[in-house]
Amino acid sequence: MKQYIYRFVVTNALTLFYGFLTLVIFLRNYVRNPFRNPWEQKLRLVPPAPLSDPKYGIHKNIKVNGIKLHYVESGDPSKPLMIFLHGFPEFWYSWRYQILEFKKDYWCIAVDMRGYGDSERVEDVSAYKLNLLIDDIKYLVKELGREKCILVSHDWGGAIANAIRNSYPEIVSALIMLASMSTAASIHEIWNNSKQFLMSWYFFLFRLPWLPEQFVSMNDLEIHDKILLVPGNTYVDKQDVECYKYWFCKPYALTPPINYYRANFDYIANDKYYKDNVPMLVVHAAKDLYINKTVLEAMKKQYEYIETVIVDGVGHALQQHDPDRINKIIRDFLAKNNL
Ligand SMILES: *[C@@H]1O[C@H](CO)[C@@H](O)[C@H](O)[C@H]1NC(C)=O
Ligand SMILES: *[C@@H]1O[C@H](CO)[C@@H](O)[C@H](O)[C@H]1NC(C)=O
Repeated sequence: MKQYIYRFVVTNALTLFYGFLTLVIFLRNYVRNPFRNPWEQKLRLVPPAPLSDPKYGIHKNIKVNGIKLHYVESGDPSKPLMIFLHGFPEFWYSWRYQILEFKKDYWCIAVDMRGYGDSERVEDVSAYKLNLLIDDIKYLVKELGREKCILVSHDWGGAIANAIRNSYPEIVSALIMLASMSTAASIHEIWNNSKQFLMSWYFFLFRLPWLPEQFVSMNDLEIHDKILLVPGNTYVDKQDVECYKYWFCKPYALTPPINYYRANFDYIANDKYYKDNVPMLVVHAAKDLYINKTVLEAMKKQYEYIETVIVDGVGHALQQHDPDRINKIIRDFLAKNNL
């Protein structure tokens, strides 16, 4: 109880503090450049060509768990099912390099998570509770006529894939988490590692209404340039960034993704220990600005069966910036488990 009260007070103080800081950033923008509107956005009416490139698969919609989900399907439906779950603020396109690699041997489904891309955007914050997010995928697997799937996940998608593994281990033949953490590990590390506490600053900011959307959309969605464009890296170019901005510049497009944070902030971790053998691989990017590698230790305390890898020289969007290395890590892990 004491711990809960402490965390509750610190959390709310920090949320206000980061909110205030955001207002200062807005003000600084106006002072530096009084005649420019930081929220002016380029009009993007035509989807960039890669979004409909047939090499990535066929675009389909499905109704599951009371909601329309959009996904991109490729590969042979008689092969093992591999489902890709993207992170924040992304969509199916984050998996393009994995689709090209794994469609040779797997039935690949890259989903737009609820509220993202071409999937349905429900308004309520409560529509983004973790139990609903995991049921979307559970019912998707069922609708696709399968009992099991391989989950390949990144960032928020990893937290969801991990929660699917915890609640429905029987439907997961393997779990691969890239640059992501279980919700329990993230709560532990936020409160036990001051570095992670600082790295997770946006968890606190995103609890506020309205303001986070304004912050993320500033300077024509500059956030996507910052996360995706790495000098010298040729795997992600300006046109790729335009693909992201095409979806995120739509009205209301940022609210559902930020609602994932609003709906799921927890103070105390669930410390269940999982002994069932679901092959699980957690891949940490050494230059990740949002996740400290101590999260791996926290996750090892949660699972009897877990493997971890640290990939050096690469940041948070590792599967896009170093696809050959990441694809090989995934392939080797699956081969070792005869999948
Ligand atoms: C907190 O972190 C330290 C190292 O940073 C670790 O040794 C300890 O086990 C952690 N405690 C918990 C409860 O996770
Ligand atoms: C991760 O956390 C540890 C323990 O607080 C710290 O020593 C280390 O510098 C952190 N790493 C990064 C990349 O911030």
